[in-house]
Amino acid sequence: MDVSTKALNPFRPGSGKLPRDLVGRDADMERMEQLLVRTELGFVDRGVIYSGLRGMGKTVLLLQFAKQARSHGMMVVQCEANGDARKEYDAVFHELMMATQRMRDRALREALKNAFSYVKDLSFDFGIIKATVGTQSQDGQVRTDAYRLELLVEELSQQLKECKSGLFMFVDELQEMSDEVLGTLIGIQHRMGQQDLPFFIVGAGLPNLPGVLTRLRSYAERLFSYHRLEALSEEASALGFRNPAQEAGRSFDDAALSELVERSMGYPYFIQAYGAATWDAADASPMSIDAVERGLPEAWRTLDHGLYVSRWQRASELGRDYMAAMAAAGTEAVDTADVARRLGRPNSSLTNVRNQLIELGLIYAPRRGQVAFTVPGMDAYIKRALPVRVEPYETEE
Ligand SMILES: Nc1ncnc2c1ncn2[C@@H]1O[C@H](COP(=O)(O)OP(=O)(O)OP(=O)(O)O)[C@@H](O)[C@H]1O
Ligand SMILES: [Mg+2]
Repeated sequence: MDVSTKALNPFRPGSGKLPRDLVGRDADMERMEQLLVRTELGFVDRGVIYSGLRGMGKTVLLLQFAKQARSHGMMVVQCEANGDARKEYDAVFHELMMATQRMRDRALREALKNAFSYVKDLSFDFGIIKATVGTQSQDGQVRTDAYRLELLVEELSQQLKECKSGLFMFVDELQEMSDEVLGTLIGIQHRMGQQDLPFFIVGAGLPNLPGVLTRLRSYAERLFSYHRLEALSEEASALGFRNPAQEAGRSFDDAALSELVERSMGYPYFIQAYGAATWDAADASPMSIDAVERGLPEAWRTLDHGLYVSRWQRASELGRDYMAAMAAAGTEAVDTADVARRLGRPNSSLTNVRNQLIELGLIYAPRRGQVAFTVPGMDAYIKRALPVRVEPYETEE
């Protein structure tokens, strides 16, 4: 195959890139559409939270939602959490400003800009200064980002409501957000709802996200509608291969398609990786099972580098031992007691390493006493990469 045909490869195994065809998410897109239409009609609903494993399509779904929101004339703010409160506040204020500039309706845009000046000119003097919330003292006035943000959101939402619009804040990797900023945002969502103002947080993150939210504010349970992003059905997976290929001028034969559907197990990232590798390995259309097989090493390389290697390297030595024991214990959720037994250590002595791995976003606790990988296929990768270390062994003797 020549270079120009490779250049036409329609599969995009990169995190957070909108695929040519977003398959299997029609119900989610419809739900968002309904929320947008209801906002135009003046109804105020709950925020929206999506959780799911790595590579399941959370980021691209948020991109898609943002696109829909913009086409309904909503004010759209997009940001990613990173755990640093200072940077997160800066990013949120910055994005709010940018979103204001992007509003098409000139009169509304001016009204929104006034909201910024109004909040900027306010002074906060509550007598109590909490150094931890990043307060700055200026001419005896105390300003805090939390108050400023709440007032700003309130002002903006009020203006937007009058124009049958609303403020949609899309936050990716929400489970990583600093407690300070996340707590503030949940509080704002709560109070805007009480005031019937159209402010919506639409967040995405790992499966532990709903737990993170309720641990921080118990009422978070009622503030959002929660959705779990699951693997795609076989039909949707097949479309995920077939549609982009067809649009780029090629097809798969039946055997190739069913092999690809089986190998990708409904994980969108896998579809992109196997699709891209097969395309590059094929020299004719329809693409055959030979092409699928020739492309496998490249697909695995993409998966290793895109999903596994860097995450594995991020863990500590003990963290890796822990994950190796998890991989040996099973492919889905495994009992922490079983992992401890395999490591030859009391379960209680492993709490820290477990929490570290959860914080790093490598594992999560689907149920009490159980752990699972956040990355699909991580267990298989570990077994492939570390065949000797998955056996039970003694440590620190
Ligand atoms: N519904 C879909 N149909 C086809 N391809 C998809 C779909 N959803 C996601 N993809 C593709 O799968 C890959 C992973 O998607 P995305 O980055 O959104 O996952 P994620 O859940 O955000 O992963 P992570 O947790 O690592 O951030 C991307 O290449 C994306 O284009
Ligand atoms: Mg993502």
